[in-house]
Amino acid sequence: VAADGTKQFSLTMRAGRTEVLRGRPTPTWGFNGAFLGPTIRATRGDRVAMRVHNQLGEPSTVHWHGMRLPAVMDGGPHQTVQPGTTWLPHWTVDQPAATSWYHPHLHGSTAKHVYRGLAGLFLVDDPAPAAPDLPSTYGVDDIPLILQDKILDANGALQEDPKPTWGLIGDQILVNGVYDPFFEVTTTLVRLRILNGSNARMYNVEFVDRRRFHVIGTDAGLLAVPATVDRVQLSPGERLEVLVEFAPRDQVVLRSVAGDNGIDGGDYDLVKFVAADQLRPGPSVPRRLSASPRVEAPAGARERRFRLSGSDEINGREMEMTRIDEVVPAGATEIWQVQNTVYAHNFHIHEVAFRILDVDGRPPPAYLQGPKDTVFIPAKSTVRLAVQFGHHTDPRTPYMYHCHILRHEDEGMMGQFVIV
Ligand code: C2O
Ligand code: CU
Ligand code: CU
Repeated sequence: VAADGTKQFSLTMRAGRTEVLRGRPTPTWGFNGAFLGPTIRATRGDRVAMRVHNQLGEPSTVHWHGMRLPAVMDGGPHQTVQPGTTWLPHWTVDQPAATSWYHPHLHGSTAKHVYRGLAGLFLVDDPAPAAPDLPSTYGVDDIPLILQDKILDANGALQEDPKPTWGLIGDQILVNGVYDPFFEVTTTLVRLRILNGSNARMYNVEFVDRRRFHVIGTDAGLLAVPATVDRVQLSPGERLEVLVEFAPRDQVVLRSVAGDNGIDGGDYDLVKFVAADQLRPGPSVPRRLSASPRVEAPAGARERRFRLSGSDEINGREMEMTRIDEVVPAGATEIWQVQNTVYAHNFHIHEVAFRILDVDGRPPPAYLQGPKDTVFIPAKSTVRLAVQFGHHTDPRTPYMYHCHILRHEDEGMMGQFVIV
């Protein structure tokens, strides 16, 4: 913390080695360490200042996925950090409590940079007096779960040959960079912040005993009320916050089960929870979570349509760094309709919070009705979103919208918008 109260964070992108498989160290990339990055935590109202230093030997960027900030601070493909240089973005955190994250976004290289290990969480706390009583002791009852799939060869090296349609889909699942992890539960209620940080793989997450748990937050903030479920789905880039109740001596595995979306094949154990003989009582599951009004589009809201086709086009064209595709007035709430022609994709919009209005005309499940920035779109389906834009105007510097299957993003399934 600087003298003026600014919170300073330092992130150095560098290469290293990680022992994912015993005795066979894997060459990886990370922020500060060899793999992944530190969890950044800030409170609404904080001024934050980042020192992003690039020691990779090639250009990259760092995008703050989920943060609402000026376009020049966003870390998209226009904010390149050349090797050996330092980028110094800063902004005031002004958004509800949420689980955000950060990762490189260099056009054409995002898949490779994220796959090698460049990703971390960015948690926002909100000190609002009406904030619900939630588990919030990091590492004790507030646990990050970064889900990523890898392909490791017999020597432990990461295989990077992308498959034709989807790119990198691995069969070894790492959680927080660890293969086959367990967690020692010491409290009756645990909050999990689940991030799908994979390049393309989608997860259908459940407990093997099919116990029910409570979704409390989506990408951009808390739900109005908890949604009780026994399985959730996360496509790349999506986050969910859930509360899980444990009894003493519980032993249960969280797993992902196969689906039929082309990117969610196979059954995989994610993490085993092992509860102690005695558990400290945590808070109970709150009845109400967020008092913030949900995103509503006003009558007559502007509607825009996006058609995703093949693996590289939106509205019939590929991303072009010098072309602005959409111009949005500051503070607007619009309806964005995103239509999928053939394959499953997902859709992420920088800087905004949106609400899913419907998927093929039907409302989404209750657990996906919270504020979001990334949405899964099944093959041949259409989603409609109420999208709330911010107030950081800049007619020259665009934000991105794109499929978060990173190979598709790199191939050009991305567009640019400015807020004026
Ligand atoms: Cu998580 Cu434009 O990215
Ligand atoms: Cu983003
Ligand atoms: Cu896609």
